Order: sequence, then structure tokens, then C-alpha cells
Amino acid sequence: MPTHLIVLAAGIGSRMLSDTPKVVHEIGGLPLYAHALAAGDCLSPERRVLVVGKGGDAVRVDAGTRFDGLKVVNQTEQLGTAHAAAQARDALAGASGDVIVLYGDTPFIRPHTLNAMKAARGTHDVIVLGFEAADPGRYGRLVMDGETLVRIVEFNDATDDERAITLCNSGVVMADASVLFDMIDAIRNENAAGEYYLTDIVEIARGKGLSATAVTCDEAETLGINTRAELSDAEDIFQKRARRDAMDGGATLVSPDTVFFSHDTTLGQDTVIEPNVVFAPGVTVATGARIRAFSHLEGCHVGSGAIVGPYARLRPGTDIGPNARIGNFVEVKNAALGEGAKANHLSYIGDATVGEAANIGAGTITCNYDGVFKHRTEIGARVFIGSNTMLVAPVTIGDEAMTASGSVITADVPDGGLAVARARQEVKPGLARKFFARLRALKAKKG
Ligand code: UD1
Ligand code: CA
Repeated sequence: MPTHLIVLAAGIGSRMLSDTPKVVHEIGGLPLYAHALAAGDCLSPERRVLVVGKGGDAVRVDAGTRFDGLKVVNQTEQLGTAHAAAQARDALAGASGDVIVLYGDTPFIRPHTLNAMKAARGTHDVIVLGFEAADPGRYGRLVMDGETLVRIVEFNDATDDERAITLCNSGVVMADASVLFDMIDAIRNENAAGEYYLTDIVEIARGKGLSATAVTCDEAETLGINTRAELSDAEDIFQKRARRDAMDGGATLVSPDTVFFSHDTTLGQDTVIEPNVVFAPGVTVATGARIRAFSHLEGCHVGSGAIVGPYARLRPGTDIGPNARIGNFVEVKNAALGEGAKANHLSYIGDATVGEAANIGAGTITCNYDGVFKHRTEIGARVFIGSNTMLVAPVTIGDEAMTASGSVITADVPDGGLAVARARQEVKPGLARKFFARLRALKAKKG
């Protein structure tokens, strides 16, 4: 039976004190709402609907760059979670199967938990995700009778006995698409907050002769983010998981707490990550590569057996070939280095291709930008670029060619050619001694 996903993200998130909607704030380099959508992926949802409110345009723009086939709908007034879910009605018109409601500010729900909810649909009509709260605080409470969920009561509307219940409502609900919206229609806002509570569908379902039950998960999975401090706590949780997953996948992290991952970082087996490495989004590191200390990588691939760093910066569009070497204070952007190529010290390689086994000398710069346009530098196989060469793009250096150190290369160099593009050296015998003598005499006279 197919599943459809609704992610509620219309809350203002006023406690973030931000011009950016709360759900666009990131953990692991991915916006919160995208974590919620990703969590739902385990159910292979057929349709996905994101409900946004104030500031929704920013969410819409972000979502447009990340997701195909995601419907973004507006909830113009925040009248409650049931009203928010109702905004997905048109987007889910004619859908058959189950609908699950997730929350844009709740990024950590595990696949195992959602699969358990899906499985519970085999025996019950409405499934609510609950958790045993260490401190139940103001959460809604799940009133159970054996396996049956009798109702959900919001803290403000609860009796003392109900407030004593520690099984709390995460807000996540699953029900059949054909009955969900009918039930939502029946929800009234006669409660302490004057809101349309999605939680009321439990009692409504029971009134229709349908059954409801709760599936429980770990409290940590239901962690919601409302403040910057909670955002950083969530980042911390995310990083701890990512480090553990990397090590479980066969990577060595010398000092795990100092390595920072993104949601999509992929490390091959037997990679070694030294201390203080940051992986921004879009990085893959192949088997056996080593990322040395204090390196920053983003949107790049590091081939097997390659060594990067210490103090290297790999920017988007970089592809480091197998067994290549990128050393200290080398920046690479939108460039491919062939197998075994080396740039060991103090270089900028941008908008370039570097052939296999080429050697880029210290201080080499691809001058790729003329102030208006970017230009490419093509460096062939087994080329030797002398130290401190400026490669003024567009320029091509043929296979097995060489540039003399200190050259400013403005024209192509053919295969096997040596380009020398610097002033010729003159030597004046004895002139240094004479010059020093004159200066020292001058100093002595001045006292
Ligand atoms: C809700 C639950 C409560 C549960 C708690 C868990 C209801 C009525 N209550 O309470 O039982 O214990 O979550 O955190 O569902 N939203 C909209 N539009 C709205 C209102 C809310 O999109 O009009 C979104 C918010 O962005 C937020 C989520 O729904 O992500 C929850 O809303 P919130 O008002 O925070 O509900 P709680 O009072 O926390
Ligand atoms: Ca909340």
C-alpha cells in the first residue's frame, strides 16, 4: 500500500530570532525540513507535501533546489496542526494508501520507527507515535487502554490524572488517506488554545468505529528545535551519529570529536580522517584515502589512495584522482587532478584539469579570473610546472611539457615543450660587496 508524506512547517519559529524561517536553519549542512523529508524516505512516499507559513517563499526557493516533485502548500494563518494538515488536501486528492504527518522542526525520526508505524497499520486505523518522556512537561499525553489509544489530551486541557501520564505525543500520525481528511474536517477548535488540534482525530476515529494505537520511539528521535541553543544541541547529536556511522562503515577517525560531517558525506572503507577536518556538503572519499589534519572539503570527490592536506581546501567541483597528493595550503576549485598528480604546497588550482602524474610546483597559481569571466587551464599528463608559475588562463600545457619556475605563462605550451617566461638573470661580479660597503659607510657617518 503506498504512503504519502505531509511535513508541517508553517510555525513561525519566533524563538529563533531569525529572518530565516526556522525550518531552513541547518544541521549537518541540510535544512531542518529536508531532514524531516529524508526521514520519510524509508516509506518510499508516492507524494510529498510540505506545508509552509510565514516566510514560506524562502522554504519554497530552497526546496526547489533540492527536491523534485515536492508540493509546497501555504497555510496562511496558523490555526493549529489539524488546519495545517488540511492544507495538503488538494495535493493529496485521489491518493490511495496511507498518509503520515511529520514535522519540519523534528529531524531525527528513525526509519525503524516509521516502518513500525507502517506495520501497525495492518491492525489499526490510526497510528500515533508516542514516547516515554523523561520530563513530560507540556507535551500532549496519550491516554491508553491496553493496546488501544483512547485519546490524546493537550497539557492545557488535561486533568491532573492525565498530566500524571508519562507517555507523550510526538505529533506524528499515520492514517488512511481516504479517512484522514474526513476526520480532520470533523475537528473543532473548542479547547484551551482555540486551535484545530490534529490530535483530536483519535477520538473522532473511535467515534467512527475505527481503531487507534500508539507506536513508541526513543525520546531523542522526537527532539524538536525551537531555539538556537536547541539547534546546536541537535547539531551535536547529528555529528555524534555521523561519526559513529563513519567508523561503523570502516573509516578511521583519529579524533572523532574534532571531525565535522554533512548529511551526505560518504567515506569509503579504510579511509583515515585526521583531526580537525570539516566536510561541508557533497563530499565523497574513496577507499584508502587519507584526509590530513585541518582540511576543509566541500562538493568534491577524493579518489582511492589519495592524500589531502594537512591544511588543504577542496572546493566544489573538485575531483582528486586515485593516489594523487594535495599538500598544505593548496586550494582546489572546479578542477580534476589525474591519477598520481601532485600539488604539494601553496597553490591555487581553479577551473583546471591536471593530467596523470603531473607535478604542480609550490606557489603555482591558475589565474582563472579576468575580473569578468572565468577561464580554464588544461595541464597534460606528466607535466612539470615549476615553482611559482602563473598560468594565465585560458591556457593549455601539453603532455610532458615543463614550465620554468617563476614563469608567467600566457601562451599554450606544446607537448614536450619547455616554456621559460621570466626575465633573464644578470650577474655583476663584486657589486654586492661594493654596495654593502657604501651603505655601511653611510650609516657610520649618520651615527
Ligand atoms: C504538538 C502536539 C502535542 C505534542 C507536541 C510535540 C497538537 C495539537 N499538539 O504540540 O500533543 O506533544 O506537538 O512536540 O498537535 N504547525 C503548523 N501550523 C499550525 C500549527 C503548527 O504548521 O497552525 C506546525 C509547527 O510548525 C510545528 C508543529 O506543527 O512544527 C507543532 O506545532 P506546535 O504548535 O509546536 O505544537 P505543540 O504545541 O508543540
Ligand atoms: Ca512544538
